[in-house]
Amino acid sequence: MCGIFAYTGRKNAVPKVLEGLEKLEYRGYDSAGLALIDRKNRLKVIKTVGYVSQLSEEVFNRSRTLSGSIAIGHTRWATHGKVSKINAHPQVDCSKRVAVVHNGVIENFEELKKNLKNKGHRFISQTDTEVISHLIEEFLNEGYSFKTAFQKALGSLVGAWAVAVLSPLTPETLWLGRFSSPLAIGLTKEEIYVSSDSQAFPYNVKKVVFLEDGQLARLSLQNRKRVEIFNLKGKPVNYQLINKGLMEKVNLAKGEFPHFMLKEIFEQPLTVERGLRGRVDYSNKKVVLGGLRSVEEKLKEKEFIGLMACGTSLNAALVGRLFGVGALGLSVWSENSSDYSQLNLDKKILDRSAVFYISQSGETADTLSSLKLVQKETQALNLGIVNVVGSSLARRVEAGIYTRAGVEVGVAATKSFTNQLLALLLGLIYIGQLQGKQLVNQDKFFRELQLLPAIISKVLQEKEKIKATAGKLVEVKNFMFLGRHLAYPLALEGALKLKEISYRFSYGDSLGSLKHGPLAVISPENVVVAVIFSQEPELKKSISNIHEIVARQGRVVVISDLPMGEFPPAIEHFLPLSHLESLWLMPLVTSPVLQLLAYYLAVFLGREIDKPRYLAKSVTVI
Ligand code: AGP
Ligand code: GLU
Repeated sequence: MCGIFAYTGRKNAVPKVLEGLEKLEYRGYDSAGLALIDRKNRLKVIKTVGYVSQLSEEVFNRSRTLSGSIAIGHTRWATHGKVSKINAHPQVDCSKRVAVVHNGVIENFEELKKNLKNKGHRFISQTDTEVISHLIEEFLNEGYSFKTAFQKALGSLVGAWAVAVLSPLTPETLWLGRFSSPLAIGLTKEEIYVSSDSQAFPYNVKKVVFLEDGQLARLSLQNRKRVEIFNLKGKPVNYQLINKGLMEKVNLAKGEFPHFMLKEIFEQPLTVERGLRGRVDYSNKKVVLGGLRSVEEKLKEKEFIGLMACGTSLNAALVGRLFGVGALGLSVWSENSSDYSQLNLDKKILDRSAVFYISQSGETADTLSSLKLVQKETQALNLGIVNVVGSSLARRVEAGIYTRAGVEVGVAATKSFTNQLLALLLGLIYIGQLQGKQLVNQDKFFRELQLLPAIISKVLQEKEKIKATAGKLVEVKNFMFLGRHLAYPLALEGALKLKEISYRFSYGDSLGSLKHGPLAVISPENVVVAVIFSQEPELKKSISNIHEIVARQGRVVVISDLPMGEFPPAIEHFLPLSHLESLWLMPLVTSPVLQLLAYYLAVFLGREIDKPRYLAKSVTVI
């Protein structure tokens, strides 16, 4: 989960790369480094432990004059070897002729390292990455041209890799390769940029090329062709130039907000409005999804809808499944892409399924590899619900729905979750329409759907109350989030959000499971956060569950659209939810409350918020 950024052009490449890396920091931020070819054709490498800002300081303090027209940079999230300056990238070979930055994991690095050591190569880091620079060096020593050495070296790797390489032997060239980890090339008239995420390109980049698995690239402004893409055998490959105008403009400023996470929570009325725009015909109560039009005929025939995702996106899938089954009478299944393999691939069902892969980033390794497996083994129709336009997942599926939440910088998924819920509701209604299934109580649903952005604005006005509640929970070490039916995936999401940014222990479970185990840990030290919807099935049971908890001195926070008086007076806190007539829209007004609760608790605890420890925004390495 690292970020790669590279530049070649007339301007000084160092600030260009530092700027790019700052935007990629969400992908990893334990150490950073860059390599450049200076004006005297020498390879220079600078690395630091810590954030990109520390690398910038180092560059400023040590080498104010550092300048060159070509550079590669990296922000690391360590997988092999501790966080240290030596292990930071770029990794260099013995003769300082090859500098490599890498995103991914080289699975066969131990074997390669052993062979290279036997041939006399000296390794100084504990990373898997270092084998790449020595491998290229080895092939150069054997007399191959740089291009062939590069090809042969990458051809020897097993695992996941996106690499950018710089060498004083080819001082005007950036060498790239990709397998499983993303890499994009951005072009202006006079410059070439490279990035793990095209959203980090500056505004003047108008054309983008995405490298595909197994593709390598040679980039040079001195070469008439500028971009040459070839495969691991060296054969040229055609590529597509994508117009960046079609991709979203990035607004990477926090504005008045202290953290991106809070900014992103407060963007939700706007992002929900954007997720709906042009997609709903309110007078005819119909959903129109341009992104699925090309597969309409296939969708009519599929008997099952599959939902595949992990983390927060999986929690959205669980809501989608209940909606598809309960409100539309569709047959919907869901799977955790983090735990998916040949052994749980049910070919019979998959052949008859349309599967949505749900991902904010569109780069999550778990979800991408599930997609690859299903593509290889089955006849499923593969579709995406993705936020990042042009991401690997978006490009690999046959069709899909963009969630339109805009760029999400905070590691904790907030607005993207709410918009995933929306995209799932719309996508399933659309399939229902194609298959002649009508939404239960559709009048109420469409009426409230239209009002949703305004309703969410009102929910956000409750922030002071939520903040005050969080303030009273600062000392609590353990949280249990519980909910029944549609509130259950919300409980899972509330627990995930809270643990992710506050580092407090929290887990989610179904309220119905209480007597099957969790009741045993009810005590005044642990707090239960119960999410209860007034229209959920078995509401009475949920209320008596709360009685059972308070009867055992359990501390309870209730989040509900019922009046507070419906609950035992012994509950400690009550956070009201807007009451909607349509049960199915309740998750969309509940998620902002859970997000704010986690946010304020983490703020009171002085946590990092946007970059929680050990985590990165997209998990591109399993
Ligand atoms: C959510 O707050 C987490 N950061 C994480 O669970 C995330 O949802 C998960 O890694 C999946 O990411 P994706 O949506 O980009 O595929
Ligand atoms: N495996 C490399 C390292 O540990 C890159 C890590 C990554 O991409 O997450 O340095």
